[in-house]
Amino acid sequence: MTDQDLVELAFTMLDKSYAPYSHFPVGAALEGEDGTIYTGCNVENAAYGSTLCAERTALVKAVSEGCRSFTRLAVVGRSADYCWPCGSCRQMLYEFSPNLTVLVARQDHTFFKTTLGQLLPHGFGPASLD
Ligand code: THU
Repeated sequence: MTDQDLVELAFTMLDKSYAPYSHFPVGAALEGEDGTIYTGCNVENAAYGSTLCAERTALVKAVSEGCRSFTRLAVVGRSADYCWPCGSCRQMLYEFSPNLTVLVARQDHTFFKTTLGQLLPHGFGPASLD
């Protein structure tokens, strides 16, 4: 699967997004180390703080299915700028794959390729507890 393919899969998740409060749908596609793709969308809640981001939806789907190591993540929205993962998502992803490749897309389906290490330098992970 190409990077663009993964981005397009994330775009298909925008229709599943539940975002009646922000009206800001987000889609994600997370690739496990065996090639399995776990998709996600943001799921909002009337108690706003209970909202779950698209990336964390994909991540908890994966971990609950037994996958704990990831190679690539695509995050997409319908905004003109790239859809950057929030701090909480960066932290949650760092726990499992600090070397993750991250593809952030714009509404025109163009994307920027970076790494979780770039997005969360000097992250706090499992080894930090040693
Ligand atoms: N959102 C995500 O799904 N992922 C992020 O990394 C940033 C924010 C969602 C949460 C909320 O439903 C909406 O975008 C506006 O913040």
